[in-house]
Amino acid sequence: MTKETNAIQEDTMRRFEGKVAVVTGAGAGIGKACALAIAREGGRVVVADIDGSAATACTSQIAAEAGQALALAIDIAEAQAVAALFERTDRHFGGVDLLVNNASAMHLTPRDRAILDLDLAVWDQTMATNLRGTLLCCRQAIRGMIARGGGAIVNMSSCQGLSGDTALTSYAASKAAMNMVSASLATQYGHAQIRCNAVAPGLIMTERLVAKLDECTQRHLRRHQLLPRVGRPEDVAALVAFLLSDDAAFITGQVVCIDGGMLAHVPTYADGGNAARTSRETAEAAESPRR
Ligand SMILES: NC(=O)c1ccc[n+]([C@@H]2O[C@H](COP(=O)([O-])OP(=O)(O)OC[C@H]3O[C@@H](n4cnc5c(N)ncnc54)[C@H](O)[C@@H]3O)[C@@H](O)[C@H]2O)c1
Repeated sequence: MTKETNAIQEDTMRRFEGKVAVVTGAGAGIGKACALAIAREGGRVVVADIDGSAATACTSQIAAEAGQALALAIDIAEAQAVAALFERTDRHFGGVDLLVNNASAMHLTPRDRAILDLDLAVWDQTMATNLRGTLLCCRQAIRGMIARGGGAIVNMSSCQGLSGDTALTSYAASKAAMNMVSASLATQYGHAQIRCNAVAPGLIMTERLVAKLDECTQRHLRRHQLLPRVGRPEDVAALVAFLLSDDAAFITGQVVCIDGGMLAHVPTYADGGNAARTSRETAEAAESPRR
């Protein structure tokens, strides 16, 4: 390998050197992949999760790879706990430059039904965590970012926040509202060099979903994607890392879909184009992803 190639690799692989990131819900799934991606590029990461042992497991993995991380057990729906999270971050790492609002009350989604069947407690709890929790973290982070001369925030939204469904009423509304919080934040604090974008994943096969989502539903969702493989947490982490980095220095206020094309086609696609492929072709393509 030439000297220049080495220099290019070093350049692109250390985008978060000297930066401090807070990632919520980083004990598992997409949040954990984001925390690892930031740490692998030199960022110091606060791994905040309601599940303290999951947070510690993530920081142990980061430490094993020679990265720096701090695990904190925290419920983002609690204002005092969120304030304490950012105080600890300031004391331990000297401030925050990057925030990934990833935590969501995923445990409520099986009870999140159609409007007339909806338990309003599910609506309230979903909003308290997904929307209010995100807002609380943004408020704490923005103050510190203004003092430090700027920062970048990514809010983990969802394709569900961009299209209607037969259930998931509260989850979808919370994600749509998070998109607007992102646009408001970008509008109100862009002058202070703070960028904010939302990321809207489609089907991303986390450990939780692998264990929970039946094969029939997975097949159905995949049939509506344009790319013949499932999404992975690392796919989302790569997008989040890009949006947090200076590579995205002129991107703010956007909602970026990462869904294998799920929302990018006319409704007839799954019945006509995709379904016209033999099931064997589709199965083979799904099993051997081309990246
Ligand atoms: N997996 C997908 O297909 C998918 C699709 C679209 C959007 N998303 C979004 O991505 C994000 C992560 O989803 P995932 O699938 O990786 O979930 P996950 O359940 O695998 O991980 C979520 C993590 O958040 C933590 N958490 C839950 N409530 C919390 C709280 N109140 N405070 C702090 N931490 C809390 C959990 O302990 C867990 O570690 C969520 O915002 C979700 O809405 C996921």
